[in-house]
Amino acid sequence: MSSIKRNSLLLALLWTALLSVLLTVNINEVRDDPLQHAETQAKAVIKSAIGFRSWASHFGGVYVQPSEKYPPNPYLKSPDRDVTTTTGKKLTLINPAYMTRQVFQDFYGKDGVNGHLTSLKLLNPINAPDAWERDALLSFEKGSNHAAAIEKSASGENVFRYMQPLYVEEKCLTCHAVQNYKVGDIRGGISTSINLSSGEAIAAQNIRTIVLTYFSVWLIGLIGLFIFFRRSVQLEAEREQKFNLLNVSETLAHQYISTKSETSNLEEALQAISAMLEKRDPYTAGHQQRVADLAEKIALELGLSNDQAHGIRLASLVHDIGKIQVPAEVLNKPGKLSDLEFSLIKLHPQTGFDILKGIKFPWPISEAVLQHHERIDGSGYPQGLNADQICIEAKIIAVADVVEAMSSHRPYRPGLGLEAALNEISKQRGKELDAAAVDACLKLFNECGYKFP
Ligand code: HEC
Ligand SMILES: [Fe+2]
Repeated sequence: MSSIKRNSLLLALLWTALLSVLLTVNINEVRDDPLQHAETQAKAVIKSAIGFRSWASHFGGVYVQPSEKYPPNPYLKSPDRDVTTTTGKKLTLINPAYMTRQVFQDFYGKDGVNGHLTSLKLLNPINAPDAWERDALLSFEKGSNHAAAIEKSASGENVFRYMQPLYVEEKCLTCHAVQNYKVGDIRGGISTSINLSSGEAIAAQNIRTIVLTYFSVWLIGLIGLFIFFRRSVQLEAEREQKFNLLNVSETLAHQYISTKSETSNLEEALQAISAMLEKRDPYTAGHQQRVADLAEKIALELGLSNDQAHGIRLASLVHDIGKIQVPAEVLNKPGKLSDLEFSLIKLHPQTGFDILKGIKFPWPISEAVLQHHERIDGSGYPQGLNADQICIEAKIIAVADVVEAMSSHRPYRPGLGLEAALNEISKQRGKELDAAAVDACLKLFNECGYKFP
């Protein structure tokens, strides 16, 4: 796996993890909302109920006109419970507990909010606590100052329940002293229950919105990351491609240099030099090319290696390069040459040697050029070497040179023909020319059907 891919995957994972954590925190907060809301509401309900109860207690209860629905309280044992006004109107005393119950049952009790006054020590059995309220009252006896819980309603909805203790105050004793209460005792408690379902519905809607928002943000982030990833991969690929191209061209260049420079480049260079000379000396045009061809064949006929034969071919291609120094009118002069002119021509092996000696060849090319007019009986030039001192390359070129020179046209004489040329080398066999080379040459022409190219 590439590092780009790994990093991108890591980024995607980090992004997903970050959003998951934030989403979880956010959802939990929203999920808690209805409960917190209900708690605030419950405290407010109880606070106001206690307030109104305090107000009613302050007056030792309040007188109202009784009705069928709200009759005089049979549990209130006050002698002044029922009075008649001076105008004959009947009034009954409503104690705080009776008032609270009426309010919660008939005047409050809406929107899933309800309240209840209760005690462990009952004057009125209708005020009996339910199981949860009983536990709460017991906990108040042990010093707790409130109780809260979530219960399931009969219809399966969540209901928040909250309860606070009611303490005996001075004015409560007017009616509750008979129960042996003292100020500061826990008389009972007031509880409220708040249905959570509407708040929960709102929270659920909010959570859906939040999830959708987070999902969109997450998706946009991932898409951005993916685009970034694709771009990086593309850039990386381009870089790699460029690098490969560079490598390929470098390899090609290396190959070119290593293959070309060794052999074919040399041959091309020597061909160019040979062509240069022939531009100046049109009568020997092709002379060197043909000598090269024949000399190479003779070498192979003599059993020399392909490599050595190739070297001989290359040497033949430039064997008369030194003639570049001979004035053109001497080279192209028809008729006989003067001694001076001939001595100028005889300089060309040495000149050729001087031109070529600086170039490093894997064959003795400059030596072959220097010695191609040497003769094995010592009659040649420039050094008058004898058979042992002349290299095999020069001996072969000498034979090919004589055959080619005699059989083709020259400025000072017409061509003498191939037969005359072959006769001449036969005559010089073992005298001026190397016997084996002459034999090989004759065999090429007479038996192998060799022809100059
Ligand atoms: C005017 C008389 C009167 C006063 C004052 C009064 N109460 Fe009561 N209280 C009653 C009567 C009667 C009942 C039972 C009848 C009922 O609930 O209908 C009762 C019931 C209660 C109950 C319900 C439990 C039960 O025994 O049925 C509690 C709790 C309570 N009172 C607390 C208090 C507190 C606290 C005060 C003082 C702030 C107080 N009362 C003041 C007459 C009074
Ligand atoms: Fe020559």
